[in-house]
Amino acid sequence: MTKIIRLENIFKVYGSGETEVKALNDVNLIIDEGEYCSIMGPSGSGKSTAMNIIGCLDRPSDGHYYLDNIDVAQMNDKDLAHIRNKKLGFVFQQFHLLPQLTALENVMLPMVYANIDPAERRDRAAEALIKVGLEKRLNNKPTQLSGGQQQRVAIARAIVNRPVVLLADEPTGALDSRTTQEVLDIFTELNSSGITVVMVTHEVEVARQTGRIVWFRDGQVVHSNLTPADLNHLAA
Ligand SMILES: Nc1ncnc2c1ncn2[C@@H]1O[C@H](COP(=O)(O)OP(=O)(O)OP(=O)(O)O)[C@@H](O)[C@H]1O
Ligand SMILES: [Mg+2]
Repeated sequence: MTKIIRLENIFKVYGSGETEVKALNDVNLIIDEGEYCSIMGPSGSGKSTAMNIIGCLDRPSDGHYYLDNIDVAQMNDKDLAHIRNKKLGFVFQQFHLLPQLTALENVMLPMVYANIDPAERRDRAAEALIKVGLEKRLNNKPTQLSGGQQQRVAIARAIVNRPVVLLADEPTGALDSRTTQEVLDIFTELNSSGITVVMVTHEVEVARQTGRIVWFRDGQVVHSNLTPADLNHLAA
C-alpha cells in the first residue's frame, strides 16, 4: 500500500515573540492511498493548518512532508503549484467559484494551468460535472445554483485534473442535511473509484461515513486511527 501522505515531525508557527502561535506542534500522520479519512477536533486545534500543508497551499515551519514519496516541505512556489495541480484537488466550506463564469467555465479553469489541450477542456469539464450529477446545469452561473449544487461544481473542479488525493475542509459546513448527504455520497463514490479522500468536519454524522477518523487537539494528532464506532464513546 502506498503511503500517499506522510507527515513527519511537522511544526507550524505563526507570528513571533508575544504573538507566536504554535498551530502545529510535532504532527506525525500517515494516510494510505485509497483511504477515506476524516479529521476532527476542537476549533483552533490545527485542522485547517494541517490541511493547507497537506494541500500544498502552505509550507510547514519545520518537518518533512512526503506526498506520494516526494518531499514537498521545502519546495519553491512554482514546483509546489505544479505538484498541487497535478496530484491534489481541494474543496472548501465556501465554494470559491468565480461568479462571472458558468459552471462549465469554472471547472475548465484548473485545466488551463495544467496545460491541457483547449479542445479537451470542455469535454473533461462536462464529464466531471456529469459525474457530480449536474449535467443539466453546465451553463448556469453560481448565483443560479443552490448551495449544494455550487459545492458539487467545486467538487467537479477539484477532480477534473484527476487528482490522487481529494482534500476537503468542512465541505458540508454551509449545507443543510439533505445536500450534505448528496455531497457525502459523491465523496464515497469518488473514494470507491480509487481517489484518496481527506475531509475536515465538525459533524459526527459526517465523520461516521468515512473509514477512519484522525483527532486533533492543541496542534497535535491525539488519535490517529479511530473507527466510526469509537465516536460513540468520545461523544458520550
Ligand atoms: N494565518 C494565521 N496567523 C496567525 N495565527 C493563525 C493563522 N492561521 C491559524 N492561526 C492559529 O493557529 C491555530 C490553528 O488554527 P486552525 O485554523 O488550523 O484551526 P482549526 O482546527 O481549523 O479550527 P476551526 O475548527 O475553527 O476551523 C489557531 O490558534 C489559529 O488562531
Ligand atoms: Mg478550520
